[in-house]
Amino acid sequence: MEIIQGKQALYIDAPALDERLAGYDAVHMDIGTGDGRYVRHVAQTRPHCFAVGVDACRENLREVSRGAPENALFVIANAQRLPSELYGLAAQVTINFPWGSLLEGLLTGDTSLLASLAAVAAPHTELEVRLNGGALAEAGWSLEAGADRVRDVLIANGFAMRAPVMLAAHELRSLPTTWARRLAFGRDPRAVYLHGTRKVNSIVHAAPALEGAILA
Ligand SMILES: C[S@@+](CC[C@H](N)C(=O)[O-])C[C@H]1O[C@@H](n2cnc3c(N)ncnc32)[C@H](O)[C@@H]1O
Repeated sequence: MEIIQGKQALYIDAPALDERLAGYDAVHMDIGTGDGRYVRHVAQTRPHCFAVGVDACRENLREVSRGAPENALFVIANAQRLPSELYGLAAQVTINFPWGSLLEGLLTGDTSLLASLAAVAAPHTELEVRLNGGALAEAGWSLEAGADRVRDVLIANGFAMRAPVMLAAHELRSLPTTWARRLAFGRDPRAVYLHGTRKVNSIVHAAPALEGAILA
C-alpha cells in the first residue's frame, strides 16, 4: 500500500507493516483524515496505540507526515478500496466530518465503502462518525435526517449504533481535528456524533430503503 512521508510516496507490504505495528496494543484508523491532525493527536496522547490516517488526497498529508511520530502512519487510499494490508487491524475507526464520496457512500450505503470498513475492522471495533450540517445539506439531507440515514446504513451493515448525539460548538472546539475547529468558528457549527461497535460475523447489506432526503 502507498504511504506518504513528507514529499515521498513509499510502498509498504504486510510484513513491513507488521514490523511497524509490533509492540503496540491497538490500531486506531482515521478514514478521510484530511491534514492528519487527529491522527497525530491520537499518536501523541496514546503512545501504546498505533494511529493510521487514510485519505484519498495526498497534498494535505505532506506536512503532518514529514514529522510524524513513530506510532503514526499516513496511507493514501480511497475509502472504497482500502488496502488489504489494513484488513482486520482496526480496534477503533473514526470518520470525522466526511464529504464527497465518503459522505455519499455512508448515505447511500455504497457496498464498496461498507465492505472496506468491514474488512479493516476487527471484531467489536469501535466506530465513531461525526457529521456536519453543511456537508449533509450539500448532499441533500438535513442534519437530523442525514444522521439517521447514516446510522441506519451502518446498522444494516453490521454495526450496533447508539442514537445520534448533537455536538455543541464548544464540543467541536475541543475536538483535535482541523475541520472541527473550522466548523466551530464558522457560520454553520451544527454537527452530530454517531458511536457504535462492529458486530461479530456480520454481513454487508448496503442501503436500507431510502427515506428522509430533502427534496430540493
Ligand atoms: C471535510 S474533510 C475532513 C478532514 C478531517 N477528518 C478533519 O476532521 O479535519 C473530508 C476529507 O475526506 C476525504 N475523503 C472524501 N472522500 C474520500 C474517499 N472516498 N476516500 C478517502 N478520503 C476521502 C477528503 O479528501 C477530505 O480530506
